[in-house]
Amino acid sequence: MSTPTTTAPEDRQARSAHSANGGGTDVSTRLLRSAAKKSYDPAVDIDWDAPLDPQKSWTPEHRVSLYGTPLWDALDADQRHELAKHEACSIAGAGVWFETLLMQRLLKDFYDADPATDRAQWALTEVADECRHSQMFTRMTQVAGVPTYGPVPWVRRLSKLYSVVTWGPSAYATILVAEEVLDRLQREQAEDPDVQPLMRQVNKIHVMEEARHVSFARAEVTDGMARLSRPARAYHRLATALVSFLIVRSLIHPEVYSAVGIEPGRGRREALANPHYREMIRWAGEKILGFLDEAGMVKGPGTAVWRRAFLLPRRSRA
Ligand SMILES: [Fe+2]
Ligand SMILES: [Fe+2]
Repeated sequence: MSTPTTTAPEDRQARSAHSANGGGTDVSTRLLRSAAKKSYDPAVDIDWDAPLDPQKSWTPEHRVSLYGTPLWDALDADQRHELAKHEACSIAGAGVWFETLLMQRLLKDFYDADPATDRAQWALTEVADECRHSQMFTRMTQVAGVPTYGPVPWVRRLSKLYSVVTWGPSAYATILVAEEVLDRLQREQAEDPDVQPLMRQVNKIHVMEEARHVSFARAEVTDGMARLSRPARAYHRLATALVSFLIVRSLIHPEVYSAVGIEPGRGRREALANPHYREMIRWAGEKILGFLDEAGMVKGPGTAVWRRAFLLPRRSRA
């Protein structure tokens, strides 16, 4: 398979430091220092009382799942604005859901560790970051006047098994998929002057703090895969692909469509068949798929799942 390789110098540095000490103490030490220097408290670093600008969108129109479809063409400007707001908040809701699963994973890792190590202290620091993020996303959704979405009920129930069926490389690889797909969308929104200032500020904070989490998780994946047997590597590959599929499918809750009078099942079907939306997902996952491919996570039976998730392009018929 041939996804582009985009390994940032910081990741290479993180990885070599991580490997050199057999499990991440140097990485954790560096990240703890970084967190001490620069962390945000959204309760005070965001002006929650600032009036919303009715002219600004919540996400660029070309990032809305129905963009380019006949259903989209039939919506008026107000409905397009409303759908964009619901979808932006739905993605934030998916972030809250997955941050909760990540916190469970980190606390399990902390439970098994010596609390005095930097690695264990980093786990707690990341939990603290994610607590603030989930509060921030939820509060933004409330300010937007949108329901708190999240995964559909069966995915919410099934994902209680997340921290049982994934650990080590598959846990951190799926965390990376969630974090980096959101990251690419959020960076674009944060830099777009036509996006609601509240949304831009929320995304700026998230992007900055997530950079630390990504460094840690990338090192966990690379080191973890190197230590596994062949059958174990195959398990982690498949588990990563399946969980990543659920993450991507949970970004847009079907109920967002009913906010603009579209039957949820129809809206979802049209979105999933929309080449523009499929390409958006591939673009959002491009960086992380490049890394996971390099780490040996994207091959075998899971490849078909990555394609169904739209994170890999469909096989050409030529
Ligand atoms: Fe986060
Ligand atoms: Fe994170």
